[in-house]
Amino acid sequence: MKITVSVIKADIGSIGGHIKPSERLLDTVKKFIQEYGKDIIIDYYISYTGDDIAILMTHTHGKNNEKIHKLAWDAFKAGTLIAKDQGLYGAGQDLLKDSFSGNIKGMGPAVAELEFNERPGEPFLFFAADKTEPGAYNLPVYLSFSDPMHCAGLLLSSNLTKGFKFRIMDVENTKGDKVIELRTPEDMYDIAALLRDNARFVVESVYSRHSEDQAAAISTTRLHNIAGKYVGKDDPVMLVRTQKDFPATGEILSPFSLGHLVAGFMRGSHTGPLMPVKLNSTISYFDGPPIVSCAAFSIRNGKLSEAVDAFDHPYWDHVRAEVSKKASDIRRQGFSGPAMLPYSELEYGGIVDILERLEKKFKITK
Ligand code: 13P
Ligand code: 13P
Ligand code: MG
Ligand code: MG
Repeated sequence: MKITVSVIKADIGSIGGHIKPSERLLDTVKKFIQEYGKDIIIDYYISYTGDDIAILMTHTHGKNNEKIHKLAWDAFKAGTLIAKDQGLYGAGQDLLKDSFSGNIKGMGPAVAELEFNERPGEPFLFFAADKTEPGAYNLPVYLSFSDPMHCAGLLLSSNLTKGFKFRIMDVENTKGDKVIELRTPEDMYDIAALLRDNARFVVESVYSRHSEDQAAAISTTRLHNIAGKYVGKDDPVMLVRTQKDFPATGEILSPFSLGHLVAGFMRGSHTGPLMPVKLNSTISYFDGPPIVSCAAFSIRNGKLSEAVDAFDHPYWDHVRAEVSKKASDIRRQGFSGPAMLPYSELEYGGIVDILERLEKKFKITK
C-alpha cells in the first residue's frame, strides 16, 4: 500500500501583524480537519511557523488529489472567517482565488507531497519556513544531497554513492511548470549554476539514483506570480525522507547551521539569514529574521509518531546566537546595496512610484 504525505500551508491571518496565528484559529483548522477529514485521511498534524499554518496529512489517495487539496482549502476558508472575526492581520492572505478548482496549486497555499511504499523503518522530516521564498531551500538541499562536507554518507554508504536526481523548476515561467532534471555527481556544476539564483530556480524534488525513490519534495509557489503584486512572502514547506537510500537526518540538518542569507525579512523585500528555530516559533525583529522549523516523524501504515523538534537542542542555540549576530550585521546597513532586494525582486509598489516621479525630474547634461 502506497502512503502519501501531503503538507499544505497558508497564512490566513495572524495576531499583532505577521507574528503568529491565534489559538482559536489553529483550533478551528484542527477541528475542521478532524471532522471533515475522518473518512479521507489516515492521520494529520497541525502546526504553525511564524504566521503560517501547515496542515500535514497522511492518506492513500496519491499526490494532487482533489479531495485532499479541497479539505485543506476548506479548512483554511473556515479559519479565515475566524481570523476576520478576531480582527487578525492579513485574514485570508494566501487564499488568492475565490473558489476551489480541483488542485490547490496556483491558488496561493504552498504544497509539498511525497508518495512511497513504507520501509520497515520510515523516518521523514517536515520543514516550514516563514518570511522567505522557496529558493531558501536550494543551498541546504544541494549541500545535503551532493556535498560530502555535509553528507558523509556520500563517502561512507554504498546506497548513496550513485548520487541523486534533482528536478529544478524555473519559477519565473508562469505559463506552466518548466522543469529540468539533472544528476549528481556528474551535473553538480550545472546544478550549482542554476541554484545560485534562488529567486528563479527552485529545487522541486530529489530522487535516489540507487532505488529511484523520491527523497524530497519542496513547494514552489511564488505568490507574486499568482497575484501580480505583493501579498506576502511565499514561506515554503519541504518534506524529506531520511536514512538508508537517503542522507541521514543529521546530514539533512547539517547545512542549516550556516544560517545562509535569503530573500524575505521585512515586507518580503530584504536579505537576512535563515534561522533554524523551535517548532511553533513566532516572528519578531524586523518582521524576521527569516526562520525555518523542522518536525521529525516516523510513520507506520500512515499513522504518525509524535513530532520531534529537530532544532530543539543546545547545538542550535549556539547557531541561533550566531545567526542573530549575522542578522544584526546586515541590518546595520539598512536599505543599502544587498541589504534590500534588487529592484526586480522588490515586493512593494511604493518604490516604483518614487522612481517614476523622480524619473521626470532627471536632466541629461552634456
Ligand atoms: P501594510 O502596508 O498593510 O501595513 O502592510 C505591510 C506589511 O504587511 C508588511 O509588514
Ligand atoms: P508574511 O508573508 O509572512 O505574511 O510576511 C509579510 C510581510 O510583509 C512581513 O513584513
Ligand atoms: Mg502574514
Ligand atoms: Mg508567513
